[in-house]
Amino acid sequence: MEYTLRIKRFNPDKDVKPHFEDYVVDARPTDRVLDALNEIKWHQDGTLTYRRSCAHGVCGSDAMRINGRNRLACKMLMQELGKRTTIEPLIGFKVIKDLVVDMNKFFDAYKSIKPYLIADEAPGARERLQSPEERHRFDDTTKCILCAACTSSCPITWTNESYVGPAAIVNAHRFIFDSRDQGAGERLRILNQQSGVWRCRTIFNCTEACPRGIQVENAISEVKRALLLEEVS
Ligand code: SF4
Ligand code: F3S
Ligand code: FES
Repeated sequence: MEYTLRIKRFNPDKDVKPHFEDYVVDARPTDRVLDALNEIKWHQDGTLTYRRSCAHGVCGSDAMRINGRNRLACKMLMQELGKRTTIEPLIGFKVIKDLVVDMNKFFDAYKSIKPYLIADEAPGARERLQSPEERHRFDDTTKCILCAACTSSCPITWTNESYVGPAAIVNAHRFIFDSRDQGAGERLRILNQQSGVWRCRTIFNCTEACPRGIQVENAISEVKRALLLEEVS
């Protein structure tokens, strides 16, 4: 079956501004968008540039805007698209080339919330134990693959460069509600600042965009509630 992919291209070495180029690919309805991009890169135009690695929805490297929605190219089937599909880089990020965006700011925001276990006591002879209920408390937010689909879909991040964004808050949530962690107060203080959770206006684009099905807005609300009720120290 023939599909037309309309891809936004930008080469900073020769283009003044981005433009669209059309490619016709012969693909099966069950092929993924990533397969179609590979077909173009390997057989039609080797200059087409995009990130990909695992090809199975795990590494988070191929998030892009497909027909106006943030999706992983390796998780989206051609049959879910029309005969003509528009593919663009994630918005709200500086484009480095074609579909590759600069993720430095995104990872700086991620690092700012201390995304690692903070525990004062040295580990004992065994692992740090927790009950299944305690583990369940933050299960949803452990699924994040740092693809940036949520942060790129949030209109607040488009206009407010300092907002840490939903992905950073999701990863803060993962540790704030972990019974083994003792850095919740520190992270909550960071997220209570001007650039933190109060920037979120409950727009929900983030939840819709997440390819892992994480209830992103819910995680943000839980962090807001923890700040209001001081339920985590
Ligand atoms: Fe991607 Fe979902 Fe993590 Fe956001 S929360 S970075 S959309 S996996
Ligand atoms: Fe943005 Fe999601 Fe909040 S889209 S405003 S982070 S609910
Ligand atoms: Fe790894 Fe798509 S290539 S998530």
